[in-house]
Amino acid sequence: MMKATIPSEDELNAMRALRVEGARHNKTCFTHWFPAVQALGIRHPRSEVIPFPDRLTGHILNEEFGVIDAELRAIVASIRAFGAEVGYPLFIKNSLFSGKHDWVDTCFIAEGASDERIISQIINLTHFWAICSHDLSLYLVVREFVPTKAVFHAFNGMPITAEFRLFARDGVIEGWQPYWPEHAIQEPDVENWADRLKAIEEPLEANMSWMMERASAVSSQLGGYWSIDFLQDDEGRLWLIDMAEGGRSYRCPTGYRDLMTDKA
Ligand SMILES: Nc1ncnc2c1ncn2[C@@H]1O[C@H](COP(=O)(O)OP(=O)(O)O)[C@@H](O)[C@H]1O
Ligand SMILES: [Mg+2]
Repeated sequence: MMKATIPSEDELNAMRALRVEGARHNKTCFTHWFPAVQALGIRHPRSEVIPFPDRLTGHILNEEFGVIDAELRAIVASIRAFGAEVGYPLFIKNSLFSGKHDWVDTCFIAEGASDERIISQIINLTHFWAICSHDLSLYLVVREFVPTKAVFHAFNGMPITAEFRLFARDGVIEGWQPYWPEHAIQEPDVENWADRLKAIEEPLEANMSWMMERASAVSSQLGGYWSIDFLQDDEGRLWLIDMAEGGRSYRCPTGYRDLMTDKA
């Protein structure tokens, strides 16, 4: 006969502590790779890291909002202080995920958003991340918003714009892909979206070399295999906006350009 066992309070606490420990060592976490980007002076959005302790995530998932009201309001105050310095809109994410597919309800903080609105976006971000992954995030990140030229919008108001993902291992660029594969687009707001997407899939040669140099530098600095994402702004300049361990990053079977076989 099967015996159902419920973990004791001590066992639960030990599991929680393990998860927090895992989060502290997670190389994909913003706090691990971002200091290298800063130190190398690679163009990046100004960013502030706000601690978001495990217990806060726990209370949000259990919908115990009363207990954390003051903490959430303090986080909103930090976001507002940052906004007063760098201007709106702002971009928020946790240290692993932005919830970009829900754009206006997660990562995009519009000018004039109320405190309640910002809190609800933080709550959405926390819930959507918990659905996607078992990895814990211990931080919220608030970022300067990079102005881009959207070729169309998809999902929940998200601007689709030129972005590129490079894969680099210890300084060697192994390949790259346009950030948005056609099959990933949902709810586009124009008819000819596929043509518009095609038009932004190739970076200028000079931009490719620029990205390769930076991706090579940051991957050697950190060591190991990385995906490095660059976003092109409305003046054509590239910004390093995201990194993740290469083996955990989406590699598109059709869009990936393998530079290692090209070399062989
Ligand atoms: N600072 C920013 N300003 C403007 N758009 C941004 C900014 N950061 C991210 N984005 C947009 O949001 C998308 C998701 O951001 P990202 O930080 O990569 O989160 P995730 O890891 O969830 O994909 C990016 O691909 C880019 O299109
Ligand atoms: Mg990303």
